[in-house]
Amino acid sequence: MVPSTLMAIVAIAKATVPGYYQCGGIGWTGATDCVTGTVCMSQNPYFYQCLPLTTTSSSTSTSNSTGEPCTTSFVTTSFTHSKTFTSTAYVPPTSSSTSTASLTSSTATSTVPATLPTGIGLRGLNLLAQANGRYFGTACDGIWNNDDQAYLALTGNYSEFGMMTPTNAMKFDTTEPSQGTFNYSNANYIASWSHDRSQVVRGHNFVWYNQVPYWLMSGTWTNATLVSILVNHIQDEASHFRGKLYAWDVINEPFNDDGTWRADLWYQIIGPAFVPIALTTARAADPDARLYINDYNIETIGPKSNAHLALAQSMLNQSIPLDGIGCQGHLIVGVSPEADAITANFARFAALGLEWAITELDIRMTLPETTALLAQQASDYSNAVGGCVASAACVGISTWDTSDDYSWIPSAFKTQGDALLFDSNKQPKLAYYSVAAALTAMTVQGQFASFYEV
Ligand SMILES: *[C@@H]1O[C@H](CO)[C@@H](O)[C@H](O)[C@H]1NC(C)=O
Ligand SMILES: *[C@@H]1O[C@H](CO)[C@@H](O)[C@H](O)[C@H]1NC(C)=O
Ligand SMILES: *[C@@H]1O[C@H](CO)[C@@H](O)[C@H](O)[C@H]1NC(C)=O
Ligand SMILES: *[C@@H]1O[C@H](CO)[C@@H](O)[C@H](O)[C@H]1NC(C)=O
Ligand SMILES: *[C@@H]1O[C@H](CO)[C@@H](O)[C@H](O)[C@H]1NC(C)=O
Repeated sequence: MVPSTLMAIVAIAKATVPGYYQCGGIGWTGATDCVTGTVCMSQNPYFYQCLPLTTTSSSTSTSNSTGEPCTTSFVTTSFTHSKTFTSTAYVPPTSSSTSTASLTSSTATSTVPATLPTGIGLRGLNLLAQANGRYFGTACDGIWNNDDQAYLALTGNYSEFGMMTPTNAMKFDTTEPSQGTFNYSNANYIASWSHDRSQVVRGHNFVWYNQVPYWLMSGTWTNATLVSILVNHIQDEASHFRGKLYAWDVINEPFNDDGTWRADLWYQIIGPAFVPIALTTARAADPDARLYINDYNIETIGPKSNAHLALAQSMLNQSIPLDGIGCQGHLIVGVSPEADAITANFARFAALGLEWAITELDIRMTLPETTALLAQQASDYSNAVGGCVASAACVGISTWDTSDDYSWIPSAFKTQGDALLFDSNKQPKLAYYSVAAALTAMTVQGQFASFYEV
């Protein structure tokens, strides 16, 4: 990444490019004069952006907030970014009438395009999201061993995706393959690669029933030994990435669909105490990362989202650190929730002071793809995005990878697929344009302000 000292201040004077929009870079032929109060700064050779003057202030004091690896060295060395969070914690409405009012000012103005527009190119989903205080992001895996240049260019394009989640590289089985031995090679690669493209990174995840290493699955543990393994794992990984990540999915998928606890390794041996232990350990190891509980099938009000609400309330009542709820959003074409139902559900969490995000959005269909299915998918995507952007507490939306040929869906659901915004040729689908429309139509300001290397 370009060190801060090399950041180009290209233009200050004439106001033509709005804040956060592109103002330069290789191949850029558009306007280069930023609106008053912002400056055009190089994010990477291909992307210069108009950023508020305040984010350029000196921050040498943050140069030691980037943490030291705990037991391992960074394999990749380009972690040159320190960061300053400029976003403030979400402030819940003071009265129920306020919260109802913000609900009804919903998303109705968003229009889903009826047919695929031709020849108009990309819209810049992340830039559209940023215009009202949110991010749009994606997720990836295996990019260290990938020469699919079209995929890499799109996935790493900050205009489209300002947030990155490694789908597998930060999970327990990858990062602690044998007990007490940590390997952050893949995780470092993605974090560095994304930071080099000015993307912010979400850490995913610490405590899950799946993708747990064999030594841990097959061992015989007491409560005390398993707590010690959990604490050690979180301390090591959270410390390794301290100051580098926007958030951690500390807890992933703790409940069954009926709202009962999932009887996994963690729950069976530690009991529900694994949740506060993990959250408290993560906060101590990386005080700047937002701490999330992340799950699927919690888009709308129901037994599982109710269980999450009770858990969140219980954590907050005990002053256990918890900042956000991740709504995964693995949805199905034709049976996806309405925007208002999503917003109404998360208004309950927002009222507790929690932020939330759609963290793993994809909307799968039974193959083969048809025009009607693609149109329904576009409508379903519009509802999911609309559910976020009608909530002041929703900070952003990430899809679970970029294009259909990289989606996990065909391997997990044999007859289904085509769940993402880009097809296997990396061309935008109708759903891409419906997402752009929903982002353009948003009227409720979010509170995500990306961090900038300074
Ligand atoms: C960073 O902080 C640690 C712990 O406070 C200290 O030991 C180290 O010398 C500091 N490094 C720099 C470069 O200031
Ligand atoms: C990134 O996407 C934007 C459209 O959002 C496009 O104009 C730009 O050329 C792309 N940049 C790169 C480096 O591909
Ligand atoms: C760490 O993981 C990477 C990627 O899987 C692998 O290539 C490397 O050999 C591992 N390092 C060690 C020391 O095992
Ligand atoms: C396991 O130990 C933790 C304290 O480390 C405690 O909070 C929890 O209740 C214990 N679980 C069981 C099942 O005894
Ligand atoms: C949390 O505290 C609130 C206010 O005191 C109370 O209404 C609620 O029942 C508590 N919830 C839990 C899960 O402890």
